[in-house]
Amino acid sequence: MGKLLEIKDLSVEFRTDKGIAHAVNDVSLSLEPGENLGIVGESGSGKSTLAHAVMRLLSPSAVITDGQILFDGTDLTALPEDELRALCGRELSMIFQDPMQCLDPSFSVGYQLTECLLAHRICGKAEAKERSAAMLERVGIHEAKEVMRRYPFQLSGGMRQRVMIAMALLTGPKLLIADEPTTALDVTIQDQILQLLKDYAKQEDLSVLFITHSFGVVADICDKVAVLYGGRVAEAGTVRQLFYRPCHPYTAGLLNAVPTMEHDKNVPLQPIEGTPVNVFRLSEGCPFCDRCGKAAEICRKECPELKEVEEGHFAACHFAE
Ligand SMILES: Nc1ncnc2c1ncn2[C@@H]1O[C@H](COP(=O)(O)OP(=O)(O)OP(=O)(O)O)[C@@H](O)[C@H]1O
Ligand SMILES: [Mg+2]
Repeated sequence: MGKLLEIKDLSVEFRTDKGIAHAVNDVSLSLEPGENLGIVGESGSGKSTLAHAVMRLLSPSAVITDGQILFDGTDLTALPEDELRALCGRELSMIFQDPMQCLDPSFSVGYQLTECLLAHRICGKAEAKERSAAMLERVGIHEAKEVMRRYPFQLSGGMRQRVMIAMALLTGPKLLIADEPTTALDVTIQDQILQLLKDYAKQEDLSVLFITHSFGVVADICDKVAVLYGGRVAEAGTVRQLFYRPCHPYTAGLLNAVPTMEHDKNVPLQPIEGTPVNVFRLSEGCPFCDRCGKAAEICRKECPELKEVEEGHFAACHFAE
C-alpha cells in the first residue's frame, strides 16, 4: 500500500538568542492510510515541533534544515503557501491541546464550522449548516443547532474540545494530527473523547498521528508507535512490539513508569532518573546516555543509528538486539 504520510530525515531547529535548539533531529516516520501512529516522549522531546512542521505552523524562529514531508507523495516542505493552505484543513487537519488555539472567541460556533466548508468550497451555505450540525451530533454534542449559536466561551472545556474535533473532521480529512488533545480534561471526558476519535477513525478509514505523554493512550488507540527522545526516534514499531519487547532503555523506562492492572501496589513505579536532554547542547554521543543504566564508552562517543531489530521494529541503541 502507498504511504499517506512519509517523513524522511527531518531536522528542525529553533534559532534563538540563547543559541540553537535542535528540536527534531533526523526523524523518519511513515503512516499508511487508515493507520494510527502514536508519538510518545516526555516534555521537550520534539513532538509538537514535528506536528507543526507537517502543518507548516512552526514559529518564525524555526528552520527545517533537512528532510522531506511527503503527504500522498507531495512534499509539503516545498509546497507554495496557497496550495498548502488549500490542503491543510481539507485533507490534513490538526487538533490541539488547547481548543482556543483554533477557535476564534469572537465568532459563534456555527459560523466557524460552516466557514470551514465554505472556505474550501465543499458545499453551499444551507448544506454547510446541516453538515456542521450533523458533525456536532456525531462528536457527542446534543442540541447541535442551539450550540451552533453559542460562542466558544459559553461552552465547557469538554464541549470546546468536541467542537474543535468536529471542525477538524468536517471536511473529511485523510489525516488527523492530534497533539495531546485531552490532557486538559478530566479522565472521564478524556476517555469519551479518545473513544470517539478511535471509532471515527475506524469508521472513516482516517489516519491519526496521535501525540501523547501516555503509553496507556497509545495502547488504546494506536497500531504503531514511535518514541522520541531529544528530538530523535529512540524506538519505533507496532504497539505490541514495543510493549512486549522494548529494545531501547528509554522505552523500557517509560513502560516501568506506567501503572497497569496487574501492577503490584507494593512495588513502587519506577520513574526515569535524571533530567531530559538539553537540545541546545547535544553531544556527539547517544542523547540518552547520561540517564541510561547500560551506558558504556561507545554511547558517549557515537550516536547510535536506528537499526531494525525485528521486522518493522527499530531501535537506536548500541546494545539493542
Ligand atoms: N519557539 C521556540 N523557540 C525556541 N525553542 C523552542 C521553541 N519551541 C520549542 N522549542 C524547543 O524545542 C524542543 C522541543 O519542543 P516541543 O514543543 O516540540 O516539545 P514537546 O515534545 O511537544 O513537549 P510537550 O510535551 O511539553 O508539549 C524543546 O526543547 C523546546 O525548548
Ligand atoms: Mg507539545
